[in-house]
Amino acid sequence: MDKNAKFWSRIADKYAAGPVPDENIYQKKLKVTHEYLKPDMKVLEFGCGTGSTALVHAHSVKHILAIDIAERMLEIARQKAKEQGIENVDFKQANMEDLDVEKESIDVIFGLSILHLLKNKDQVISKVYKTLKPGGIFVSSTTCIQDFFKFYKLLEWFGPLGRSLGFLPLVNVFGSKELREAIKAPGFTIEYDWQPKGKGKRQAVFIIARKPEAGD
Ligand SMILES: C[S@@+](CC[C@H](N)C(=O)[O-])C[C@H]1O[C@@H](n2cnc3c(N)ncnc32)[C@H](O)[C@@H]1O
Repeated sequence: MDKNAKFWSRIADKYAAGPVPDENIYQKKLKVTHEYLKPDMKVLEFGCGTGSTALVHAHSVKHILAIDIAERMLEIARQKAKEQGIENVDFKQANMEDLDVEKESIDVIFGLSILHLLKNKDQVISKVYKTLKPGGIFVSSTTCIQDFFKFYKLLEWFGPLGRSLGFLPLVNVFGSKELREAIKAPGFTIEYDWQPKGKGKRQAVFIIARKPEAGD
């Protein structure tokens, strides 16, 4: 297992036990996402963690493939699915950066609290775009560290040190302007863009983007 997967597996039980940072914000994101879902849809979630969001939306769609690099996160997710009697979500260990997935095969992709934790967000956003059917939807929620952490440059040398000692995950620093540009770059149109006011710019940027319909 690579160091990053080990980090996330190690903190999985604590992560599962912790409260959602802001329940009202989380509920609003679920509600807005729900409006885009239909019973015949195939969904992919990457960086699913302990599966909470996938399990909430499972009743509204046909199938969800939920992937994560951390086996312990997935064990907890599978246990929750079993307890809730949910059978249309498959939890699979995989890295989004090298997931083998058919082009134009998925209706909706969720990437929640994950784009800032990837080696190369641009490459993954482009993969998300290619994987979505025409008219498909990308739902993301992303912490834009550069917007609120003045000393973000410190992470350039602290980050690799923390990772090699195993107490930090891989973190990619960028701001909300760069995030929006990265999402639009492959051809997405942003349909919904919300950065809750709660703790100012510390709040994750919630974006729903659509791939153009065929022929658009
Ligand atoms: C901050 S947690 C977010 C979990 C969940 N999406 C949520 O909103 O609660 C990030 C998750 O992404 C996973 N992860 C990190 N890099 C990944 C990658 N390249 N591919 C798939 N999962 C990844 C981690 O193991 C972790 O479970």
